[in-house]
Parts: sequence; C-alpha cells; structure tokens
Amino acid sequence: MQYKGITIGVLREIMPGEKRVAVIPETARKFVENGARVLIESGAGEGAYFHDDDFIAAGAQVVPDASTVYNNANVFLKVKEPKFNESMGRHEAELYPEGTVLISFLHPANVLNHEMVGKLRDKKITSFTLDSIPRISRAQKMDALTSMSTVAGYKAVLFASDQLARFIPMMPTAFGVIKPAQFLVIGTGVAGLQSVATARRLGAKVKTLDIRPEANEQAKSLGAEVIPFDIPAELAVGKGGYARRLPEEWYEKEREVLTPHVQESDVIILTALIPGQVAPILVDRSMVEKMKKGSVIVDIAVDQCGNCQLSVAAENQMYNGVLISGITNIPATLPVDSTWMFAQNIMHFIDYLAVDGKINTDTVDDIIKETLVTIGGKIVHRGTLQAMQNSNE
Ligand code: NAI
Repeated sequence: MQYKGITIGVLREIMPGEKRVAVIPETARKFVENGARVLIESGAGEGAYFHDDDFIAAGAQVVPDASTVYNNANVFLKVKEPKFNESMGRHEAELYPEGTVLISFLHPANVLNHEMVGKLRDKKITSFTLDSIPRISRAQKMDALTSMSTVAGYKAVLFASDQLARFIPMMPTAFGVIKPAQFLVIGTGVAGLQSVATARRLGAKVKTLDIRPEANEQAKSLGAEVIPFDIPAELAVGKGGYARRLPEEWYEKEREVLTPHVQESDVIILTALIPGQVAPILVDRSMVEKMKKGSVIVDIAVDQCGNCQLSVAAENQMYNGVLISGITNIPATLPVDSTWMFAQNIMHFIDYLAVDGKINTDTVDDIIKETLVTIGGKIVHRGTLQAMQNSNE
C-alpha cells in the first residue's frame, strides 16, 4: 500500500487569522484508503467549516491535544510556515520529532523565515515548500501557489476597493461624471491577472507592467493598458519561461518608468515575483510620497519581502495618507474555497512523493529538487541559500 507506515499529522494553524487547514475529510478518506493513518488535532478544520465528526466519518483519528499529533505522526501537512506556538511555549519547528517530514508553504527565502529554516535543519526534518513547485504541466495539480494566488489576486482587489475612499466604476451624477478609479497591477502572473480581471469587473481602469511579453499579452486580453517597458526578453525571461532577477540598474529603470503611473493610481496591487527568491523593490519610498492621499497599495508579494520598500508583513499602515497593506494570509479570508483547493494540491503532492510507504527525496526529479528545503541536517533549497548568503553579506 502506498501509504503503509505513514501517519499524517494535521495541527491547527496558529498564524493569526488563518482559517485554512491542510487536510479535509475528502482527502483524509483517500489517505486512509491508501493505507495511511491520519491524526487530526481537534478543531483543526473549524475555521473552514470542516468538523471533527466529518473527519472521523472519513476514517481519520481526531485527538484533543496537539502533543499527541506531534508525538505520533511522521509526515506533517501544514498550510503556513512554522511559528512560535504561544500556547505550547515552543516554536512549531522544534516540536516535530527528529527525522520526520514537513510539507507546507515555508517561504524559506524570506529573511524572516531563515531562523525557522535553521531550526528545521537542526531537527533533521525533511521539509518541502509548496511555493517552489515548478509550473510544469505534470505538477499542475500540486501547484498550491497557483491556487492561492488566484484567491490572493481576487481578494486583494476587493480589500483595496473596500478601503478606498472613492467609487471604483465611473459614476454619472447630476453634476457631472465621477471618473473610474485607476488601478495599477505590477506583475501579471496568476495573482496579477486575477487582480486585473476582478478590477475590470468592478469597473476600474487598469494599467499593468510585467517583464514577460506573454504576461503582457494576457493582461491586454483582459482589458488592461500595458505600460511599455523596453527590456530585452532574453534578460527578463529565463528557464521554463519564468521571470528572471534583473541587474539592479534595470530595476532602477523600471522604477523610473513606473513613477508617473504610480503617482496617478488610486490602487496599486503588487505581485511581482521571481520564483523562490526575494521579491524586487519596484515601488520605493519616494514613489509612495508622490501618491495621492487616500490611495491604497496591497503588496501581496510580502511573503517574499514585498515589492514596496515600505511594506511590513501582516500589517496595514498609513504612510503620508497612503494605506500600505502587507496582508499575508489573503487566502485565509476565503477559507472554504481556498482550503478545498489547498487540500487537493497537497494531496496530489504527497501522492507524488509517497512510494511504498516512503517519501521520495531523490533530487533527480525536478519537482523534488525545487521544493526540498532541508534534509539530513542540511539546507538544500537554492533560493534560500542564495538569500541567506545575501543577508550575511
Ligand atoms: P507568478 O510567478 O505567477 O507571477 C509573478 C509575476 O511577476 C510574473 O508574471 C513575473 O513575470 C512578474 N515579474 C517578475 N519580476 C518583475 C518585474 N521586475 N516587474 C514586473 N513584473 C515582474 O506568481 P503568482 O503566483 O502570481 O504570485 C505572486 C505573488 O503573490 C507571490 O509573491 C506570492 O507569494 C504572492 N501570494 C501572496 C499571497 C498572500 O496571501 N499574500 C497568497 C498567494 C500568493
């Protein structure tokens, strides 16, 4: 049996406001049918409306305390990266027994998570990060970042619109027409395109900028005005069609091109990302200072340190009359659909890794190579090692 000897552990997520859970009754049932034991901390699914009784009916074991899950599972499935658990007085990363497996969004390149990654290394945890699943067709069903980015792009626009002190659509009045709000979406990958589509549905005018020609075509087809930025495709696009990190002088040029558009925007949605790496700064302090008061920036790249110089993870702050949101867990605000998608993605991922009761860690495989973060007391994730080296320089 594929999962024989594997005990999957699912704990309550402890990040403030996090309502998702990594396993739902539907996926728990499949694990159990394939030979796994599934241990769930009581109440872990409540935030997404999956109750203990549903898990029990699916064949999972629900236990009242987290310690029983920690002490008995050997593969932990989790939504967000391990944090300090106030109620247990310990960091989650220290609670996994030595040599066990952890699969989650770890965002390991983010400097805020380097210490946590170090703890996983020291505990000899075999950890995989879902934010590095390559966007290749055979990994599509495992691609949790795509699922969550879909939610983030959509919800970021709703959040910004709710905070904006203006109408979004053009509004005719007896005294003349109120112009539609101007949105700027930087980075039009999965999240950015969803933002464009949502903002357009609300009646906004939308400008975009991406460095990949394909992303620009897609934004255009959704009705966005693409800001011209003359960058050679071979510099911007790398292996697998992904965006590449640019030399610093190109980021300077990009900020220059963006400045007048930033200035006239009511809402800016930031999603520019180089997979597995720290996000580039595309909106700096001086650009924010030129913005209209009452404007809103939602920096959804904040898990990767953000595209706005002033973004602070998990905080909404006012700067010079501009609301800068570094909201980190946007998918948690749509817990039912995001949990359903996440649970399917993580099930397909572990289904790929689990062979005869063992988790495959052979990095000859692209998907494993890209996602493996720590193993046998070592950090092996390229983007993380690079970010760690940069932060030490
Ligand atoms: P993606 O890889 O599909 O899109 C990123 C886009 O940024 C690509 O189209 C890329 O070409 C573009 N880009 C890269 N460098 C650029 C530059 N210098 N200028 C303009 N565009 C550039 O990534 P995806 O899945 O859309 O995710 C975007 C961000 O959203 C990520 O940072 C991800 O972690 C974050 N995210 C945040 C969530 C939250 O709750 N805050 C949830 C899900 C995703």
